[in-house]
Amino acid sequence: MTGRRLRYKSLMVKIAPSILSADFAALADDVARVEAGGADLLHVDVMDGRFVPNLTIGPVVVEALRKRTRLPLDVHLMMVEPERYVADFVRAGADMVTVHVEACPHLQRNLAQIRDLGARAGAALNPATPPDTLAYVLDDLDLVLVMSVNPGFGGQSLIPSAFDKLLRVRALLGDRPVELAVDGGVKVEHVRRLVEHGATVLVAGSAIFGQADPASVIAAMRSAAP
Ligand code: DX5
Ligand code: ZN
Repeated sequence: MTGRRLRYKSLMVKIAPSILSADFAALADDVARVEAGGADLLHVDVMDGRFVPNLTIGPVVVEALRKRTRLPLDVHLMMVEPERYVADFVRAGADMVTVHVEACPHLQRNLAQIRDLGARAGAALNPATPPDTLAYVLDDLDLVLVMSVNPGFGGQSLIPSAFDKLLRVRALLGDRPVELAVDGGVKVEHVRRLVEHGATVLVAGSAIFGQADPASVIAAMRSAAP
C-alpha cells in the first residue's frame, strides 16, 4: 500500500501541448519549439467528424511526427469504433492511446487492446459523463483524461465542473499510479488549482501555440504547479 501511494505521489506534473493549435503547415517547427521548451508529451487530437463535429488527422501524421520528435506521443481518439484504428496508431508510433468512454460500449476490451499492442491505455470522459463509468476498469487504465470542454475544437473555455471531477476520479483511482490528465481551456491561471485537484498531465493547445513564445508558457505552467 505504501509503495503504491509513493508511486502516485511521485508522478510528476507533465505539460502536454496539443498540436491542434499548432501551424499544420509548419508542424515540425512548432513541435521542435515545444520540445526545446520543455514539453513532456505531445498531445495529438484525432477527430472523426462523427463522435465530434470536426475532422483532424490520422495515423500518417502520427508516423511523420514520430520521425521528428523524441517526445512521447499521447494520442486522443475522439472517434466512434476506435478499435478499428488503434493498431494503426500504435504502429505509427503512438505511446499512449486514449479512447472515449462514450464511444466504447466494450470499454474494457478497448483498453486491453491498447495494452496488448504495447501502448499505454487511457479513457476520456466528456464533461457530462460521470466518473463512475470507470469503476470496473480501474486496473485496465494507465491514464484518465478529464475533458474540461466538450471536445471538438480548440480555444474553448474551461468548464469549472472539471475541478470536482478530477477529485472524484482521483479518489476512485485510489493509490494506483494512473496519470490524470485534464484537457480543454487549460491556461496558466488554472494550473495550481488543477494540480491541487489531482491532475498530473496538463493538456494545453491555444494557451501554448497561440503565444509568440510557447516555451515561456510551458515554463510558466511548470512554475505554477505546486
Ligand atoms: C478538444 C481537444 C483538446 C484541444 C485543447 O477537443 O481534445 O486537446 O486541443 O485545446 P485548448 O487548450 O485550446 O482548449
Ligand atoms: Zn485532446
